[in-house]
Amino acid sequence: MDKKTIIVTGGAGFIGSNFVYHMLGKYPNYRIVCVDCLTYAGNLSTLKKALENPNFRFAKIDIRDAEAIDKLFAEEHPDIVVNFAAESHVDRSIRDPKIFLETNIMGPEVLMEACKKYNVSRYHQVSTDEVYGDLPLDRPDLFFTETTNLHASSPYSASKASADLVTLAYHRTYGLPVTISRCSNNYGPYHFPEKLIPLMIINALHDKPLPVYGDGLNVRDWLYVEDHCKAIDLIIHNGKVGEVYNVGGHNEMANIDIVKLILKELGKPESLITFVEDRKGHDRRYAIDPTKIHNELGWLPETKFADGIVKTIKWYLENEDWWQEIISGDYQNYYEKMYGDK
Ligand code: NAD
Ligand code: DAU
Repeated sequence: MDKKTIIVTGGAGFIGSNFVYHMLGKYPNYRIVCVDCLTYAGNLSTLKKALENPNFRFAKIDIRDAEAIDKLFAEEHPDIVVNFAAESHVDRSIRDPKIFLETNIMGPEVLMEACKKYNVSRYHQVSTDEVYGDLPLDRPDLFFTETTNLHASSPYSASKASADLVTLAYHRTYGLPVTISRCSNNYGPYHFPEKLIPLMIINALHDKPLPVYGDGLNVRDWLYVEDHCKAIDLIIHNGKVGEVYNVGGHNEMANIDIVKLILKELGKPESLITFVEDRKGHDRRYAIDPTKIHNELGWLPETKFADGIVKTIKWYLENEDWWQEIISGDYQNYYEKMYGDK
C-alpha cells in the first residue's frame, strides 16, 4: 500500500476518533493528521492512544479558519481529506442554529478551497441520512436511496444538506474530486453522552429518569460505528468521484425499544422511563437503502445490533473515567438547559 497523508477533521469527536483508530490500525504506513478545534463535543482524551503513534499528528484548528487551514495544507500536502467536523446534535441546532450554519456549511467551503489549491486527490464529505427528511411509520416499504430528494427538517440537517450541495458544486464547477457518504445513526465507543444511547446508559446507571421524546415510536436505523468507518475507508480508496453513497445496515428500531433493551441489559426497572415533550419537527423514521455501496464497493455491515449494543454498554461500564470527565463539566450545564423544564 502506497504511503498517504490523510487529514481527518473532527477526529476528536465520536465517529472521527473511531475512524482515526481504524486507519492507524489498518494502514501502518499512512500519516493521519487530525484537525479539530475541540468544541464541547471534542475530547483530546479520546485520542490518548493515537497521540502515542508516530504516524499521528493532532492540530487544534477551526475548519472555518482559512489561514490556519492553508498553513496546515502547505505543511502536510495531504492526499485525502475526510471531513467529519461538524456541529452534530439536532436538539442544539433547534436552540441555536447559527453555529450549525457557520461550521457545517462554511467549514467545508474552507476545506474545499484548500483542496483545490493544493491539488488534493480526494475530498470526502461525511454527511447524514437526515438530509432526506423522514419517512412515515406506516410505509415500511419506503427507503432513502441516493436519488431521494433532499428534504431536511432541522437546522442541523438543513446545514448538512447545504454542505452536500456545495460539495457537489465544487465537483461540477471546479472538477474537485469529491465523494459524499450519507450514513444512518451510529452507536459505539466514544459516543458523546448527549445522544440517545449513551445518555440512556449513563442515566440508567445513575438510576435517573430516562427522558423519551413524544411517544417513543420514532424509528432510527442504527449502525455500529466501526462499520461506518469501514464504509468510508472503502469510499475514499475505491469510490467513484462525484458520487454519493448511502451507508446503513437495515437495522430500524423504535427509540422506546432501544431504551427498554438498555434497561434490561443493565438490570434496571422500566419505571425509570419518563415520556417528555417531543423534539420540535421530530423526524418520524429514517431507513437507508445501502444497495449502491454494496453492489459497487462490496460493503456490508459486520456487527449485528444485538452484539453491538452489548459491546457498547460494556464499553461504557469499562470507561467510566472517559464519560465522568465529560458529564461533570460543561455537559452538566447543557443538561439542565435541555431537560430542566421538561
Ligand atoms: P461529534 O459531535 O461527536 O464530533 C464532532 C467533532 O467535530 C468534535 O470533535 C468537534 O470538536 C469537531 N468540530 C466541531 N466544529 C469544528 C470546527 N469548526 N473546526 C474543527 N473541528 C470542529 O459528531 P459525530 O457524531 O462524530 O459526527 C461526525 C460527522 O458524522 C458529522 O459530520 C455528522 O454530521 C456525521 N454523521 C453523524 C452520525 C451519527 O450518528 N453520529 C451519523 C451520520 C453522519
Ligand atoms: O441519522 C443520523 C443522525 O443521527 C446524525 O446525522 C446526527 O449527527 C446524530 O446526532 C443522530 O441524530 P438523531 O437526532 O437521530 O440522534 P439523537 O441521539 O439525538 O436521537 C435519537 C432519537 O432519540 C431521536 O428520535 C430523538 C430521541 N431522543 C433523543 C434524546 C437525546 C429521545 O427520545 N430522548 C433523548 O433524550
